[in-house]
Amino acid sequence: MRDFDEHNITQSVIERFGNTPDPRLKTILNSLVTHLHDFIRDVDLSFEEWQAAIKFLTRTGQQCTDTRQEFILLSDTLGVSMLVDAINHRHRDGATETTVLGPFFVNEAPALPMGANIAPNTEGEPLYASGVIRSTHGTPLANARVEVWQCNKDGFYDVQLSPTLNLRASFQTDAQGRFAFWSILPTSYPIPYDGPVGDLLTATKRHPYRPAHLHFMISAPEHETLVTHVFVKGDQYLDSDAVFGVKNSLIEEFKPHASGTTAPDGEPMTKPWRSFSYDFSLKADR
Ligand code: BEZ
Ligand code: FE
Repeated sequence: MRDFDEHNITQSVIERFGNTPDPRLKTILNSLVTHLHDFIRDVDLSFEEWQAAIKFLTRTGQQCTDTRQEFILLSDTLGVSMLVDAINHRHRDGATETTVLGPFFVNEAPALPMGANIAPNTEGEPLYASGVIRSTHGTPLANARVEVWQCNKDGFYDVQLSPTLNLRASFQTDAQGRFAFWSILPTSYPIPYDGPVGDLLTATKRHPYRPAHLHFMISAPEHETLVTHVFVKGDQYLDSDAVFGVKNSLIEEFKPHASGTTAPDGEPMTKPWRSFSYDFSLKADR
């Protein structure tokens, strides 16, 4: 076939993919071509706009390094990451809600014992975090793996500052499914905005901030791994998270305590501190 025009080219491209042996790949390509062509017709894309899009995507790729994934940031800020998350976690059946993994998870976080401090020699308001991991049937899950990571008081993750790991750890729950650790209060922070995704936010008058949170990845045998956050109640960005990750059920009060009080682990506190407790439910594998 020849003489393609704006009306017949879409069907021709779909037919050109007609011999794709993998049926799922064929379905995805058919839908992609249909929606992409419809989108271009819908906005009546100019040649200059097409060039600008190519340049933007090229810069997005060029911004990627071992520690910076600009395409995931683009996906996050377009709401695509949370849409994929929603589609893949449709039926929670009482399990804790999920949210974005984000780019700052590290596999090799130190394994620390119950009650340890994940922020040694780190400035900030002390925070005591605790909770219980259960199955959706209410059974406490012993020896579950609780991986936690968060930013510092200035809104930076360790990997953005130096190769030294800090403010992250992996814990194992005890026989009653409990975990506990000391840290510092995280703050709201901007996602990296010195690249093309930041330019997109600026051009559209969007701010780059995420509300303060701790990240959790919780795994236990025969259960679905849970990737989620606990958000700090009262944060000014809860309703405008740059990556659309906030869910009401994940917001918790980080209770303020006065200096001179005693922490749950018996520690006498000589400055004001915070605490929160959050219980997580994991869904059985099948
Ligand atoms: C984060 O919460 O660490 C995060 C999530 C998405 C984009 C950037 C950061
Ligand atoms: Fe984060």
